[in-house]
Amino acid sequence: MAVVAWGRFFARAWLCRRAWQGCSRQYRAAFCAELKQPLAIEKVDHRPVCPHEVRVNVHFCGVNFADILVCRGQYQEEPHLPFTPGMEFSGIVLETGTDVSTVKEGDRVIGVCGFNGMAEECITDQKSLWKIPEGVALREAAVLPISYGTAVLALEHRARTQPGETVLVTAAAGATGLAMIDVATNVLQAKVIAAAGNEQKCKLAMQRGAQSSVNYSQGSLKEAVRKLVGSGGVNVVIDTVGGDVFLEALRSLAWEGRIVVVGFAGGTIASVPANVLLLKSISATGMSWGQYKNKNFSLFSSILSSVLRYCQQGRIQPYIGAEFKLEEVNDAFLHVTRRKSTGKVLLSLK
Ligand SMILES: NC(=O)c1ccc[n+]([C@@H]2O[C@H](COP(=O)([O-])OP(=O)(O)OC[C@H]3O[C@@H](n4cnc5c(N)ncnc54)[C@H](OP(=O)(O)O)[C@@H]3O)[C@@H](O)[C@H]2O)c1
Repeated sequence: MAVVAWGRFFARAWLCRRAWQGCSRQYRAAFCAELKQPLAIEKVDHRPVCPHEVRVNVHFCGVNFADILVCRGQYQEEPHLPFTPGMEFSGIVLETGTDVSTVKEGDRVIGVCGFNGMAEECITDQKSLWKIPEGVALREAAVLPISYGTAVLALEHRARTQPGETVLVTAAAGATGLAMIDVATNVLQAKVIAAAGNEQKCKLAMQRGAQSSVNYSQGSLKEAVRKLVGSGGVNVVIDTVGGDVFLEALRSLAWEGRIVVVGFAGGTIASVPANVLLLKSISATGMSWGQYKNKNFSLFSSILSSVLRYCQQGRIQPYIGAEFKLEEVNDAFLHVTRRKSTGKVLLSLK
């Protein structure tokens, strides 16, 4: 068994070496060398691409809440130190391995890579790349993989949102929140109540398509929702905050309502009171977008193809709230953790 495994390793290493062109060049990347410490920008030597791999010239990389959790050691996956964070990017294909058939040099692509995105170049498996259609800019495309992938999966596949239903979205002016509003309103023809932590965020959520808004820093979310929709409640809740916001949102649901647990940005994981589920026949469900890549790749891939198409058709309009240079990555992280960000925060690598 061990002999077979080593044989495979050496064969793979040999193929990688053969595919290596131009080993002297270097590129810059953000590095997490120690958890909970600022990232460093360092120069990295090229490595060869393996037969199934693609080298991408990264133009934009999304800064996600999850990247910050990874660098604090608070994420479900814990990469070995040092590592380069960055789970999604857009860019142009520089080089392909000998077995790559899905993309070619010069293609514009989005990528979902787990880690490694916050660098001028990223090597990834061909299965992690999707071609960007004409008319979609690299900048807008970089917003799609995580926020819009999550939005379609949560609203369509987990909550089964129907046209005309009312969806309550928490942290509605965040990256995930604005994508939820966009997809719920413009793809699924649902009505959105946006819940956010200050008036400016509520205003932005309304400008981006929500029908009404609630500032949950000013009192009870449940009471405010009741004033908007009456005692009937909302059909769907998409929650990225957790804690008391989750519990109040859960209690705002209508008969046969559905709540989707997407995140815990507030830092507290609430327990679900089973009696509330029973009384109104409510379904509480969760989702982890990244895991669908391994567990159900065909759904994952078809959702990414759909969001690229929606973007090309002008049905969705990704919102970028701030853009930082690679060397400003720590400022970008602070912008998010201090709750100042709206929509997607991007790193520009060019
Ligand atoms: N399950 C999945 O597959 C999946 C996919 C994407 C994201 N997520 C999760 O969803 C959450 C939101 O992600 P995102 O990328 O949309 O983040 P984001 O754009 O930074 O939005 C996070 C928002 O959460 C709210 N918030 C409430 N309490 C907070 C606190 N103590 N610290 C910071 N923010 C707080 C803030 O909005 P207000 O000021 O309006 O409250 C903040 O703007 C994260 O937990 C992320 O890990 C999960």
